[in-house]
Amino acid sequence: MAIRNIREMGDEVLSKRCKEVTQMTPRVRELIEDMLETMYEANGVGLAAPQVGILKRIVVIDVTGEDPHILINPRIVECSGEQTGHEGCLSVPGKYGIVTRPSYVKAVALDVNMKEFELEGTELLARAICHELDHLDGHLYVEKAQGGLRDVGDEEEEEEEI
Ligand code: NI
Repeated sequence: MAIRNIREMGDEVLSKRCKEVTQMTPRVRELIEDMLETMYEANGVGLAAPQVGILKRIVVIDVTGEDPHILINPRIVECSGEQTGHEGCLSVPGKYGIVTRPSYVKAVALDVNMKEFELEGTELLARAICHELDHLDGHLYVEKAQGGLRDVGDEEEEEEEI
């Protein structure tokens, strides 16, 4: 396993659409392990493959630090409600924004054995699923931030970076 370099806003890899994963290979497994390690090392709650420069539809999410989710070729099949709150991103260090997302999301994805599963989330998990899936289509939360980006440190609250 290795920690990979996290690409930052302005890197064109973050604005590209990622390709579906068609088969599990040792290289893809290694990428997923590295993504988890890189996310934890950076104290993030989610990371998408393009953030480490790989244009594959893979995301990892862990909003509690002990419940990792690996989603391959994920898609949102259901969402409802609305939540408006702070959102940050490991690719936009030192910043956050106010972003409105669904308060409930159901996604379908493949696991590391390329078996389909469902993941339901509310609150931060719902936000993280939406945020990470946006990365796979080349979108950053900054496009959705109400009133633009703010500097972390303006308020007492710690921002989660996804
Ligand atoms: Ni992000």
